[in-house]
Amino acid sequence: MAPPVSSSLLHAAGGVGVSLPTEELQLCRRGRWQSLPLPLPRRHPGIPVRNSALCGLRASATSDGGAVEPDLRVRVNGLDMPNPFVIGSGPPGTNYTVMKRAFDEGWGAVIAKTVSLEASKVVNVTPRYARLRAGSNGTTKGQIIGWENIELISDRPLETMLSEFKQLKKEYPDRILIASIMEEYNKAAWQELIERVEETGVDAFEINFSCPHGMPERKMGAAVGQDCALLEEVCGWINEKATIPVWAKMTPNITDIAQVGLWASEFLALSSSGLKARVALKTGCEGVAAINTIMSVMGIDLKTLRPEPCVEGYSTPGGYSAKAVHPIALGKVMQIAKVMKSEFGDKDYSLSGIGGVETGSDAAEFILLGANTVQVCTGVMMHGYGLVKKLCTELKDFMRMHNFSSVEDFRGASLPYFTTHTDLVRRQQEAIRQRKAVKKGLQSDKDWTGDGFVKETESMVSN
Ligand SMILES: Cc1cc2nc3c(=O)[nH]c(=O)nc-3n(C[C@H](O)[C@H](O)[C@H](O)COP(=O)(O)O)c2cc1C
Repeated sequence: MAPPVSSSLLHAAGGVGVSLPTEELQLCRRGRWQSLPLPLPRRHPGIPVRNSALCGLRASATSDGGAVEPDLRVRVNGLDMPNPFVIGSGPPGTNYTVMKRAFDEGWGAVIAKTVSLEASKVVNVTPRYARLRAGSNGTTKGQIIGWENIELISDRPLETMLSEFKQLKKEYPDRILIASIMEEYNKAAWQELIERVEETGVDAFEINFSCPHGMPERKMGAAVGQDCALLEEVCGWINEKATIPVWAKMTPNITDIAQVGLWASEFLALSSSGLKARVALKTGCEGVAAINTIMSVMGIDLKTLRPEPCVEGYSTPGGYSAKAVHPIALGKVMQIAKVMKSEFGDKDYSLSGIGGVETGSDAAEFILLGANTVQVCTGVMMHGYGLVKKLCTELKDFMRMHNFSSVEDFRGASLPYFTTHTDLVRRQQEAIRQRKAVKKGLQSDKDWTGDGFVKETESMVSN
């Protein structure tokens, strides 16, 4: 992949933010960008930035040295994005028309709906979505807090999707288009898919190791992401072939609850999200994305006694998304970020947080836990593509509140505040000990001294 020349210029254009590293020369080795520092000034007022209509892209430093305008631009695995907001794989990235719309509205990047070699094997049903509203079963009024889908990967012919990727890259050469791919447990099939998709000029791959209801009998999606040995083998095939960055998209459904009673507790420890991410990174992936949807049954219609979403009277478990999954997604991202930081250093690797993002604050939380980018899928289905403008505004408001000038200024800032419960107990005991040690006033009249008389008096004044 050729170095993004325009991106280097963009960074040199100034206002990148006070805490970003010095300007760098980007070198690409097997799809992973490496940085060599260049002696360029961090801020260079006067050099115009590319397409200022893009959300989040704005010159930041004021010439009189005033407050710095938050800059949302991010560089991830050598890819420059005008902001960290990425369309998550799903309906908002199903075809040329909607992906074009996403670019026009200003999304930082678009991840297309997952494609495979043989779309004819993918047969969707309708209805395939069901919503959970705040309130009791059957209410039609409460806020939508959860969303279940039983949608499979793209059912559009691969050739059609490939020609649309090509068209989009032709029309938007400096915008980031990421192909989401998934295949059967077959090295030749994975490598053929990679080769054909790469030819379209897409910027990166996201590997769908996480679709919860996608053909497990064919060892696709979560069937791979749930099994470290399979994951290692398939990641090896992928990274042997791919020459552009690869993100592994992880499933939160990493233990089978029916098995838990049977397996030893060591198995549970080994099944953490962090372990799966470690396997993906060790086998050469540049990034990790989490989470895909959570296996769920949305509910039962209490009049018909049939489960939702109901297709000809029957249903099947699906994937849960939207606001309700946000805390679960934060938990998984935190686990992965800790492993990435402690074992890999997070410089060359990227983390994409996904799950229940509808506001800039939701996004800030993912970034505070270490995410470089934040994906949105169901949020776009509920609020439309214009949501990115609100997300950018709200994220900037948060940054202004703390005087953060760039995303890197606060990325991972909350991660050090996670510890073990044992450590929490120790910290609390220590705090209580210290509070007790600080004397509030004098314990007895015999404690008055001549030297400290005024201070001793003040220690007992209440206003
Ligand atoms: C209707 C629907 C279809 C989806 N299809 C895909 C898909 O094809 N590939 C994929 O990797 N993730 C897919 N997802 C998962 C989303 O990309 C995302 O990981 C998940 O929904 C959580 O994020 P959200 O709460 O922002 O939707 C789909 C989600 C929904 C709701």
